[in-house]
Amino acid sequence: MPGDFADVHAFASDPVVCLHQAWGPNTVEDTHEFLDDAVAVVDGRYQLAILSGGVVVGSAAVWTTSTVHGTGELGFTLHRDFWGRGYGTLVAQELVRLGFHRLGLERVAATCRPENIGSARVLEKSGFRREGHLRDAVVIRGIRQDSLVFGQRAADYPGPLSP
Ligand SMILES: CC(C)(COP(=O)(O)OP(=O)(O)OC[C@H]1O[C@@H](n2cnc3c(N)ncnc32)[C@H](O)[C@@H]1OP(=O)(O)O)[C@@H](O)C(=O)NCCC(=O)NCCS
Repeated sequence: MPGDFADVHAFASDPVVCLHQAWGPNTVEDTHEFLDDAVAVVDGRYQLAILSGGVVVGSAAVWTTSTVHGTGELGFTLHRDFWGRGYGTLVAQELVRLGFHRLGLERVAATCRPENIGSARVLEKSGFRREGHLRDAVVIRGIRQDSLVFGQRAADYPGPLSP
C-alpha cells in the first residue's frame, strides 16, 4: 500500500539486502514504482507483504510464467534486521503452497546467486531441489554472474493439493 512506503524503502534501498539481486538498491522512484506494481491485481500472481508487529519487513511473490506449461516462479526479500528468525523459510513454504494450491501450478522454480547461501538454504528447506548451475546467466550492476536454478514439482508436494 502507498502508506507502506517508508517500511518498504528501508529494506529495498539497503545495499546489503540487494547484494545478490538484479534490482536495487532502490531510489525513492524505484520504490514508488515497485509499490504501484505490487498493489495491482495481476492474474496468476500472489504478491505478499511480510508483516512483523504491523510493520512491513519484507516482500514476496509467486507468479505464473507459463499457463501452457503450468509453471511459475517465486522470490522473497526481508529487511536485514529480520534475517535468521526463520521468516524466509516460512514465507517460501507459503509461496509454494499458494503456487500449487491456488495458482494450480505443476512446477515452481526459483533462482539465486551461488554466493547467496541463505537463499539457497531457504529453498532447500522449502522442498526445492537444486537443478542447475547456469554460467554467466545474469548481469548484476554491470557484472556478469552465475545463477543457480531450483525447482519443485506439484507431483512431489507433500501437502494435500486442495485449498
Ligand atoms: C535469503 C533470506 C530471505 C533468508 O531469510 P531468513 O529469514 O534469514 O532465513 P531463515 O531464518 O529461514 O534461515 C533458513 C536457513 O538458512 C540459513 N541461513 C540464512 N541466511 C544465511 C546466511 N547468510 N548464511 C548462511 N546460512 C544462512 C539459516 O541458518 C537456516 O539454516 P538452518 O535451518 O539449517 O539452521 C534473507 O537473507 C534475505 O532477505 N536476503 C536478501 C534478499 C535475497 O537475497 N532474497 C533472495 C533472492 S534469490
